[in-house]
Amino acid sequence: MPRILIVEDDRNTLSGLMEILEEEGYEVRGVESGHKALRTLERERFDILLTDLKMPEIDGMQLYEQTQTLAPEMKTVVMTAYSSVKDAVDAMKRGVYEYLTKPLNLDELFVILKKAVDDQNLRREYEELKDRLQGSYRFESIIGKSATMQQVFKTIYKVAKSQATVLIRGESGTGKELVARAVHYNSPRANGPMVEISCAAFPETLLESELFGYEKGAFTGADSRKKGRFELANTGTIFLDEIGDISANVQTKLLRVLQEKEISRLGSNDSIKVDVRVITATNRDLEQALSSGLFREDLYYRLNVIPIFLPPLRERREDISLLIDHFIKRYSKLNHKTMIGIAEDALELCEAYDWPGNVRELENAIENAIVLGEGETLLPEHLPVTLAMRKTAMEGFAAESDDDFFSGGSSYREKMEVAEKKILEEAIRQADGNKSEAAKQLGISLRTMRYKIQKYKL
Ligand SMILES: Nc1ncnc2c1ncn2[C@@H]1O[C@H](COP(=O)(O)OP(=O)(O)OP(=O)(O)O)[C@@H](O)[C@H]1O
Ligand SMILES: [Mg+2]
Repeated sequence: MPRILIVEDDRNTLSGLMEILEEEGYEVRGVESGHKALRTLERERFDILLTDLKMPEIDGMQLYEQTQTLAPEMKTVVMTAYSSVKDAVDAMKRGVYEYLTKPLNLDELFVILKKAVDDQNLRREYEELKDRLQGSYRFESIIGKSATMQQVFKTIYKVAKSQATVLIRGESGTGKELVARAVHYNSPRANGPMVEISCAAFPETLLESELFGYEKGAFTGADSRKKGRFELANTGTIFLDEIGDISANVQTKLLRVLQEKEISRLGSNDSIKVDVRVITATNRDLEQALSSGLFREDLYYRLNVIPIFLPPLRERREDISLLIDHFIKRYSKLNHKTMIGIAEDALELCEAYDWPGNVRELENAIENAIVLGEGETLLPEHLPVTLAMRKTAMEGFAAESDDDFFSGGSSYREKMEVAEKKILEEAIRQADGNKSEAAKQLGISLRTMRYKIQKYKL
């Protein structure tokens, strides 16, 4: 049902209109002032705004202008007395969809509303189609068709245009650096420098002089003035990787840059203005660091204006085959090899594996396979043995328990017990016979474990 918001200061007209349009099959809300309309629009979506042009306080045109940010998709139809048709025509020049003269001709009203609804649907279909066509599986060199990666693409696209500070989170090898670059190269700062620094790679004092620079004589060995990375990144972007590793002192100085947009070199009190966009990344649990007092809360909020979370590869397995194709192409070309695809069983191995090192581990596995392997197809034997070993262990277990399922016991309960025994045996085996470790892995108490060991005579 199309939804209409009617704004009309004359109560009788309002209730009359509401009744008529409800009968026509619209979902109708009615309010008597522009103020109320705005408040309603903050909470609810409508397809059409039907508003009186002349109203006290906020008139129809002012209301329309304000809806352009609140509900830009909504179509606005204004109602006006015959004597002020000129105003209505002006309104249409400013983007209002249609106007109606009072007293309203109901047939005309219905036709215009119907047309507005149809246009609205057409526009939506078009947008959807456009989205689908544009919904590409890559953003620059970042590959991904999973819903979570598609969402990441959208966020990158949106935040790139802004100046906002971005904090990229994710396990090692999930692509944080790639995302940082994509933000920079899609931003208005793309022609400025992109300066990257890994905060974990420097001891505390060195990090400070790297970031902020120093004057000659600032410390022993400082025999000439040196610009820091912030200065080098002026008019561009600085990417501070592994931000979770910085000391309290550097945290304080960083906070100052973000607040004041200026730095001073070590050994100098002069402030230097810098125009730099800050992107940071970490694979650490920053919230944990906050609560244990290792990371400043005020800095955290300044850095975390736009969070981007990169999920581990095992949580988006649908991206694996796409990534493999991408890496096969890249490394075959780079190494002048003939490999062009992957065998079905090799792909299955890859899709079943958990990839603790995420995309980086997958990339390394494929690169290795291409450098060392021959032929046109990547086969299971080209892959690291860890992948195949895990598969055999699982298959063995599944096959065994399948057998026992159907021979051992007849009732549902008996079959469940067979399965339970198998699960316990396998967990104890995996824990090298350590029963409390096995209990922990299964998430059951040691007492339960002891009871079951007795029950099944394990
Ligand atoms: N979605 C992706 N598409 C294509 N390549 C990717 C993708 N994600 C990661 N990679 C590749 O995987 C490797 C690791 O990515 P990157 O260095 O960005 O990870 P990271 O999150 O910064 O890891 P770390 O925390 O260890 O620094 C790079 O070679 C990168 O090109
Ligand atoms: Mg990195």
